[in-house]
Amino acid sequence: MESIQFFRHNIDAADIERTISVLHSVFLTTGSIVAEFEKEFSFYLKSQETIGVSSCTAALHLSLLACGIGPGDEVITTPMSFCATANSILHIGAVPVFVDVEKETGNINADLIDLAITDKTKAIIAVHLYGQMCDMHKIHKIAQKHNLFIIEDAAHCIEGHRDNIKPGQLGHTACFSFYATKNITSGEGGAIVTNDKKKAELLKMLRNHGIDKAAADRYTKRYSHWDMPILGWKYNMDNIHASLLTGQLKRIDLLWERRNHLWNLYEDHFKSLKGIDVLKTVSNSKHARHLFTILVNPKKRDHILWGLQEKGIGVAVNYRPIHLLQYYKETFGYERGAFPVAEDIGDRTISLPLYPKLTDKEVTYIVGMVQNVVK
Ligand SMILES: Cc1ncc(COP(=O)(O)O)c(C=O)c1O
Repeated sequence: MESIQFFRHNIDAADIERTISVLHSVFLTTGSIVAEFEKEFSFYLKSQETIGVSSCTAALHLSLLACGIGPGDEVITTPMSFCATANSILHIGAVPVFVDVEKETGNINADLIDLAITDKTKAIIAVHLYGQMCDMHKIHKIAQKHNLFIIEDAAHCIEGHRDNIKPGQLGHTACFSFYATKNITSGEGGAIVTNDKKKAELLKMLRNHGIDKAAADRYTKRYSHWDMPILGWKYNMDNIHASLLTGQLKRIDLLWERRNHLWNLYEDHFKSLKGIDVLKTVSNSKHARHLFTILVNPKKRDHILWGLQEKGIGVAVNYRPIHLLQYYKETFGYERGAFPVAEDIGDRTISLPLYPKLTDKEVTYIVGMVQNVVK
């Protein structure tokens, strides 16, 4: 069998045609195509507002700013995520406070959040790891009790829901990524959804330097001078990127169906294999099926990774926990043992290929190779 990529995107000929027509047009930056994408994304998420931005990192950063969080504040989050989650807290000068995760799902353990709350705590960033939502009802109750903001890192979870809640419905904002390996992608890109109209207006200014009129307002209507009432950043999504996303968004449920099928195949195979565990999908939920991970013997993990690569199979590690990354260790003095459940997942996890273009035969081949290499 030829090599199997870790990820292959789903941009099709019609998506490319749409982008070509934007490139032939006058307006390349944030304009009508971004507005169209934002409207459709809001509709899909059943949310009032979407703000298209340049990445999920930008979405997290701006969400924290829009909640008024800054130096001296603490933000609770999970160590089992990509470093972007905690970095966004550092970007605004606040301190990330990690809470360990659930063994069965890898998501933040809501039962431990109370213990981490201090007078300085202002917000919780909940990460819907691999596409499975956190227990938002529990987190929402805690946030209400302590008057905290909730920001959802939904980089993995556009399609998911749990207990009748989608990302953005209990959080003040939810942040999405359209990075190269995400369920829908424009190479780089992100979005914020919110049901708070005031925050949406603020976020639209914050994504564009804090200017009160976007380029489209300045050039498509009678010229009126813009002002800059607040200091913002340069994080706006442009028409070129949005044109890659609108078509994928229309197909998003079909793409999910295919990944769900492949996920079930993987699970059926791995159920009977000793020494390999998979995380649990909780009841009354739809898992967005973003990353399929297995948990193996920590002593063998890296050898299994290398063995699979030698067989031509793309693999990844999502994630080694954030508190053990060099910068976090050196800055905050974290040591091994601080968050044992996250560390255990970080030592044992391997992500396998999962995307609609992957064939059933390839899944069977990958499982066979995992079996061989484990031996
Ligand atoms: C959980 C999580 N949060 C945030 C990000 C950052 O997304 P972006 O690359 O769009 O900034 C990622 C990206 O991989 C992610 O996986």
